[in-house]
Amino acid sequence: MQGEQMHMARSSGHRSPWSAAATALLLLLPLARGSHEHERQQHEQDRILGLPGQPNGVAFDMYGGYVTVDEQAGRALYYWFQEADRGTADPDAAPLLLWLNGGPGCSSVGSGALEELGAFRVHTDGQTLLLNEYAWNKAANVLFLESPAGVGFSYTNTTSDLVVGDDRTAHDSYTFLVKWFERFPQYKYRDFYIAGESYGGHYVPQLSQLVYRNNIGVEKPYINFKGFMVGNGVTDDRIDTIGMFEYWWHHGLISDETLESGLKVCLDGSTLIKPSPECQKIMDKATEEQGNIDVYSIYTPPCKNGTPYARSRSRRRTLMLPPYDPCTAFYSTNYLNIPEVQRAMHANVTGSIEYPWALCSDPLYNNWTTVTPISMLPIYKELIGAGLKIWVFSGDTDTAVPLSSTRRSLAALGLPVKTSWYPWYMVPTEVGGWSMEYEGLTFVTVRGAGHEVPLHRPEQALVLFQHFLQGEPMPAEAKSAGVILLPSEKAQG
Ligand SMILES: *[C@@H]1O[C@H](CO)[C@@H](O)[C@H](O)[C@H]1NC(C)=O
Ligand SMILES: *[C@@H]1O[C@H](CO)[C@@H](O)[C@H](O)[C@H]1NC(C)=O
Ligand SMILES: *[C@@H]1O[C@H](CO)[C@@H](O)[C@H](O)[C@H]1NC(C)=O
Repeated sequence: MQGEQMHMARSSGHRSPWSAAATALLLLLPLARGSHEHERQQHEQDRILGLPGQPNGVAFDMYGGYVTVDEQAGRALYYWFQEADRGTADPDAAPLLLWLNGGPGCSSVGSGALEELGAFRVHTDGQTLLLNEYAWNKAANVLFLESPAGVGFSYTNTTSDLVVGDDRTAHDSYTFLVKWFERFPQYKYRDFYIAGESYGGHYVPQLSQLVYRNNIGVEKPYINFKGFMVGNGVTDDRIDTIGMFEYWWHHGLISDETLESGLKVCLDGSTLIKPSPECQKIMDKATEEQGNIDVYSIYTPPCKNGTPYARSRSRRRTLMLPPYDPCTAFYSTNYLNIPEVQRAMHANVTGSIEYPWALCSDPLYNNWTTVTPISMLPIYKELIGAGLKIWVFSGDTDTAVPLSSTRRSLAALGLPVKTSWYPWYMVPTEVGGWSMEYEGLTFVTVRGAGHEVPLHRPEQALVLFQHFLQGEPMPAEAKSAGVILLPSEKAQG
């Protein structure tokens, strides 16, 4: 288990060290002129000149640093920005993407940037980096934000800030964006997208709504917001819960009794992150029935104390992306806690964050405020009505926010179907996944991918991202006869 985004309140404490537990409107911030000047100077200071253990052949610029989102409280959010790779894209023209991991309480730098779609992956030694040949900065400028304060390198000087929920998270992220665009004014008016995963199923639509609403009436808004994309995202607690129990049962992971009682007890008075005590009992039973599997990717081996169960014997270092490794979170955690790495990234600059960097913050998760909307569907309706480009994708081997949850939640929008369910292909011999188009929303599944699609199926994920950017449906036929190597074949390369 990755100890990933959607912790979910399941009794999975024995599985990994990180898994102890696993929205209103803001007016445009009045920014003083001095503040603009400050942001511009900060831009150069944020440039990352190189990272410890970095491989050769890095053909893009990167930046890392803090944006203060509340001066009085002393709240600052950390970002890591990877500009588009000059080998495949033009950073001065390519779109800008903001990526948000979920949790709540999990880090976009540790997950998104270092395990999924970012330009680097961390080697098993926890100290050196590999290039990710399927990084999304092959097609866009990618901005990773650790949100809210208390996650990863983002911090606050006011302890009570650590009790937070969706609403302040969205507003702080919006404040961050406004200030970030002052620091990087060359990205003003650039096509801008937001994407994320898991509990990001809340963050992404909520922040999208703020950006959209604040742009209303602005003639040529510099936050040139075009749309959003959500993967394995929490969408509607009640509907997602039905789909979750269904998925567990259909994949043979739970008993008939657990299916029945789950559907009886967990639909009312429970949310996905705060089940009622009665529902928690059923969740515990389900966990017991599921046994020692990786709930984020049911057909791959789980990680045990930092060592994959099914480690291949040859552990020689290659420059290629290694086959999927369930312990990848351990390597990134190790890497991000190296003091020289933090210095190079301009993170934890004064060393004043008292606790170590962690992939997910349990206190944030445990204290997440209960005044959380249980459904994102009203926001989807508003933003679909606004004509934004909206894509939802789903790795189909995830049990945390499974395919059937997402299918049901999207169906509940009641949108007319434009293109019905069809297989999509990258190569003629293998279905990449399935897709369908509603009027106003495209849904894509990624076959064989778990909760973190770009981690499990990096190649398919990049193709998906490219099609999203271009607004092109997923290919019903393979365009090239090229051979796609399976991860295991690649490792031998
Ligand atoms: C938080 O406090 C430290 C130590 O006083 C200070 O250096 C830092 O600037 C403060 N952070 C913010 C965002 O105000
Ligand atoms: C910040 O730096 C201090 C001092 O080096 C270290 O003890 C702490 O683990 C670091 N925290 C984070 C979140 O990186
Ligand atoms: C809630 O947050 C406080 C302050 O960070 C922390 O001390 C406490 O442990 C958290 N509660 C839980 C249940 O994690």
